[in-house]
Amino acid sequence: MSGEPLAGVERVLFTAEEIDARIRALAAEISSDYRGKTIKLVGVLKGSVFFLTALARYLEPPVKIDFLGISSFSNKSGAPGLVRIAKDLDESIEGEDVLLVEDIVDTGFTLRYLLQTLAGRAPNSLAVCTFLDRNSRRIVQVPVDYRCFEIPDRFVVGFGLDYNQLHRNLGFVAVWKHEKS
Ligand code: IMP
Ligand code: MG
Repeated sequence: MSGEPLAGVERVLFTAEEIDARIRALAAEISSDYRGKTIKLVGVLKGSVFFLTALARYLEPPVKIDFLGISSFSNKSGAPGLVRIAKDLDESIEGEDVLLVEDIVDTGFTLRYLLQTLAGRAPNSLAVCTFLDRNSRRIVQVPVDYRCFEIPDRFVVGFGLDYNQLHRNLGFVAVWKHEKS
């Protein structure tokens, strides 16, 4: 195996062992909160896939899984915050206890859009579980019910998070040397 993918790594923030332990603890909390219910995990492609599957394996209640894909883009003035669904869910969420699973909540624009969209489909409940939370960069306030880790204001890769679509498959989370613009 070449060491090349690690060239951009500045430092490891969370090791695979730390991530596993934290996900296990969070899954116990979620399992207790959803006792007697079926959890509908809704993952946001592609970043949340690694976290969602790791979390799902530790959840005790019955679990259903669906995914949606989004595209984010800037408007003419370069302001962020425009989001649209590029791949919708396969199934209805009406009457379901939906847990929206995100890789990272940064400005909050993506999450706000998704919550508004999903809330309009009459789920029984709708909550948010994110792997990473970068609260220092929040622009719009959004509710985050469960989070694995709060992170500093640095661009990170690994465990689902990418730099130009690469490094999602790293088992750890690392600060990337090239900052997002
Ligand atoms: P926001 O909360 O709408 O600003 O956007 C969050 C999205 O931006 C996430 O779902 C990621 O796809 C992407 N993103 C934000 N910060 C990072 C990072 O540090 N590494 C990789 N992707 C990131
Ligand atoms: Mg992404």
